[in-house]
Amino acid sequence: MKRVAVVPAGLLCLFLAAPAASQEPVKGDAQAGSTKKSMCEGCHGIALYSTAYPEVYRVPKIGGQSQQYLVHALRGYRSGERKHPSMLGIAKSLSDQDMADLAAYYGAAAGAGR
Ligand code: HEC
Repeated sequence: MKRVAVVPAGLLCLFLAAPAASQEPVKGDAQAGSTKKSMCEGCHGIALYSTAYPEVYRVPKIGGQSQQYLVHALRGYRSGERKHPSMLGIAKSLSDQDMADLAAYYGAAAGAGR
């Protein structure tokens, strides 16, 4: 007795047509972002928003900026396209989901995060 596995051609087409997971935009959740922002507040949440390391530097206000812009900026630091030692270290530790969540949080909260 010999069994032959037959894959229906239709199923194969469906599989090939499915979009690659990495191309799917990650949906941010502001609620989740608010639980992850503690690692940003040290710099983006202080009065007059300056940091003393690696040099005295004004920290940009991120609250209220567009979500797409924030995600794009964070990916830029992670990939090395944008260069800043502090943000490189931070962005490297963030997943795409973290970035989307943080962008949703900061993008929605005009008064939060500086
Ligand atoms: C050690 C201080 C520090 C921490 C912590 C920090 N940042 Fe930053 N961040 C900076 C500085 C300084 C810049 C400006 C860098 C530059 O000139 O490219 C910046 C830039 C940014 C920008 C780009 C803003 C713009 O207008 O282009 C984004 C977005 C950002 N940070 C998000 C975050 C998020 C989200 C976190 C937490 C996960 C975080 N940062 C944690 C110091 C920090």
